[in-house]
Amino acid sequence: MRGPERLQALVHTVPDFPAPGVLFRDLSPLLADSASFAHAIELLADQAITAGPLPDLIAGMEARGFIFGAALAAHLGTGFVPLRKAGKLPPPVIATDYTLEYGTARLEMSALAVQPGQRVLLVDDLLATGGTALAGAQLLRHAGATVTEALFVIALDDLGGHAALLDQGITTTALLA
Ligand code: PRP
Ligand code: ADE
Repeated sequence: MRGPERLQALVHTVPDFPAPGVLFRDLSPLLADSASFAHAIELLADQAITAGPLPDLIAGMEARGFIFGAALAAHLGTGFVPLRKAGKLPPPVIATDYTLEYGTARLEMSALAVQPGQRVLLVDDLLATGGTALAGAQLLRHAGATVTEALFVIALDDLGGHAALLDQGITTTALLA
């Protein structure tokens, strides 16, 4: 088994976690497989390069977006912006509340992380409803950044994330479904 097929085989699907009715996709086996983790980063990098000029920064949403976003930023040679859950960053912060597939949360960004006009690529492990990615885009745009692309390892197509982001002018790409 090679390429995306191997990545797909290393996604562990768990019914009813963390809430009844949710089919949870756990990427722990993929992350633990050195060749597959490296391959996922290379495929994300290919997508980032294909999308146009390299972004100034990559932003990742806590926590799983840090894993892929920071690795991709180091691979591409861009900076990285951590978009954090509530209460972790010192001031000055910009914050927004959002809803995701199985709950609600608050996302925060350092107001010092991004300069107006910088082009920022959003990266996360998984796209479900798009609530998390939209919250990230909202913070970045509030700081004056341009956000037009988002990359994911997995997109759950029936949860509407692609359409929700497209509606806000953000094109999404995912390696797996
Ligand atoms: C997960 C995942 C995405 C988000 C996707 O994060 O890593 O960030 O949900 O769902 P959405 O498209 O419906 O917003 P989670 O909030 O569970 O946090 P974690 O990364 O800390 O596990
Ligand atoms: N985040 C939101 N929905 C998810 C799912 N079904 N599996 C893993 N992470 C998620």
